[in-house]
Amino acid sequence: MKRVFFGCIAAILVCVWVGVASAEYKKTMKLASALPMDHPYMVGSKKFADLIKDRTGGRIVIKLYPSNQLGKGEREMTEGIQQGAIDLLITSTGPLGGFCPSINILDFPFLFRDFEHVDRVLDGSIGRRLLDDFEKADIKGLAFWENGFRHLTNNRVAVRNVGDAKGLKIRTMENKVHLAAWKAAGLNPTPMAWGEVYTALQQKVIDGQENPVAVFYSSKFWEVQKHFSLTQHVYSPSPLLMSKKTFYAMPKDDQALFVKTALEVAKFQRKINRDAEEAKLKEIAAKGVAVVRNVDKESFRKAMAPVYGAFSDQFSRADIEAIMNAR
Ligand code: PAF
Repeated sequence: MKRVFFGCIAAILVCVWVGVASAEYKKTMKLASALPMDHPYMVGSKKFADLIKDRTGGRIVIKLYPSNQLGKGEREMTEGIQQGAIDLLITSTGPLGGFCPSINILDFPFLFRDFEHVDRVLDGSIGRRLLDDFEKADIKGLAFWENGFRHLTNNRVAVRNVGDAKGLKIRTMENKVHLAAWKAAGLNPTPMAWGEVYTALQQKVIDGQENPVAVFYSSKFWEVQKHFSLTQHVYSPSPLLMSKKTFYAMPKDDQALFVKTALEVAKFQRKINRDAEEAKLKEIAAKGVAVVRNVDKESFRKAMAPVYGAFSDQFSRADIEAIMNAR
């Protein structure tokens, strides 16, 4: 009886202490991304910032820094997260393998069939394990938001199959799996920070690039690209990352609130991204870009397949199959 009584007192004291600690904690945080305010990354970020402000009664304010304001690309901004100079970052997995190698498993071509498959993997135990792995790199992985399925665009030729794309000089993300996949397919890939891509396309230093519809649209790439082929060669997830320093400096209640809110906004962010894709594609076509819808994806899949073997020392067949067969 005595033990139960003292147990209850201890529990009440802990609750009061956490409550006070949360009530006293105040911070203004910086959330960065490479993309502008109209891109789903930032629409999701705005919702996240609004919810956190509401739910903490204004104690935590998140300021938004779109369009590479805090670094010339996602690699540099991820370094900012590690150092604690940036508090939150929404980024593709592009450069993240250099910080947390296990995340590269999501970068293999034709790994995901469709959005349903994506959600099953990223919202299940595999996704959670990959987010938790970021801890080793002094980063807190909050949730998987979305960039989308990537497609090839260029200035030279209407690409209907992998043969049409041979020899094209394209920009890739700073990602070794992507780089190897494009080399295997017979293109001439160059890794480049995102901040340099528009100018490189404009000056014809490169012929093309590959990204989801929403990125092409928000970056106004119709000004510098003539052909858009729906290759859907790889799914590009976007983890919402937080500086470990900032995360663990918050009281426990706020930590839980950030994780819960990030997961909640993930559902919203993926939905608005997917729902708007077809309308954006139609607008891109209306701007004069030749959109090739019936691409022979099988030709790309076959040409890129050797990349799975090339990284077999890092990613086991069993782990790859666990993703492919997730039902
Ligand atoms: O191509 C990239 O680098 C990324 O997809 C981008 C556009 C920065 C969005 O995460």
